[in-house]
Amino acid sequence: MTNSAGTAAATHQSAGGREELGITHVPASGRAPADGYLLQEVGVTLPTAKGPLSILRDVNLHVPQGQILGIVGRSGTGKTTLLRVLGGLLRPTTGRAMVDGVEITGPPEQVVTVFQDYASALLPWRSLERNVALPLERRMGRPERNERVREALAMVGLESRAKDYPWRLSGGMQQRVQIARALALRPRVLLMDEPFGALDAMTKATLQDQLLTVQRETGATIIFITHDIEEAIYLGDRVALIAGSPGHIPLEITTDLDRPRNQVETRELARYLEVRHQLHAALAAEHNK
Ligand SMILES: Nc1ncnc2c1ncn2[C@@H]1O[C@H](COP(=O)(O)OP(=O)(O)OP(=O)(O)O)[C@@H](O)[C@H]1O
Ligand SMILES: [Mg+2]
Repeated sequence: MTNSAGTAAATHQSAGGREELGITHVPASGRAPADGYLLQEVGVTLPTAKGPLSILRDVNLHVPQGQILGIVGRSGTGKTTLLRVLGGLLRPTTGRAMVDGVEITGPPEQVVTVFQDYASALLPWRSLERNVALPLERRMGRPERNERVREALAMVGLESRAKDYPWRLSGGMQQRVQIARALALRPRVLLMDEPFGALDAMTKATLQDQLLTVQRETGATIIFITHDIEEAIYLGDRVALIAGSPGHIPLEITTDLDRPRNQVETRELARYLEVRHQLHAALAAEHNK
């Protein structure tokens, strides 16, 4: 850790230029920045029944601490695989993956992953509050834990269901509990795989804004996968497109949208529409290749 969360937040807010806010491709020969994620020429090949399958190739990515990166791409292009590399759950077959200048060899401390498969991520015999409290149990005493759990469940609008059980919730509610569990940890890095996929439009908008507030307050890095291009632009400092087989990143766009963002006004900005247009065009072009 080279930065406190507070320093990271300050850096993030004062960074006005594209260079500072953007993710930049770093050549394999370049020196690793000490801050944030750095992937150099990352490739992933996995064994399958038909032999080794190349899932990702030549992925170069630099995500400075405090940045929000949205990842979009068609199904099966390797988005979850990339997130598993970032979360230290999968070692690259080729290339290097580093966080804060250190090679990732397992789940890095203070990196929390919210998985795509939210239904199986919760323990059915634990109430919501005890599910959210689980990762905090060995880290802090009961009063602080209770306060964090209460706050996190309130953030996702489920404080009134604290004593209920996951199997009595809708899919969208279960997804929100998983997000609450991650937020309660106050992570330095939050990796999220389609976090708002099962939510209705209103709840989704509320949670998107809640996430932006959390990021502003904590200075966390947030890397999230979504199938919703508009969500990627609305939340992201930058959006990366993954395409092809094996998956690679043919396009990254700095959104250049002011903060705080507004669900109505931001989505009407010329720049927002321009980025949206670029991403749709790139997705279509990749599909027709
Ligand atoms: N453990 C594994 N072993 C073998 N192949 C795998 C494994 N995990 C993923 N794959 C394959 O890698 C490719 C990319 O999978 P991945 O889950 O990363 O895609 P994705 O972009 O997240 O897709 P979706 O949008 O549907 O979630 C797929 O072809 C998938 O079948
Ligand atoms: Mg996936």
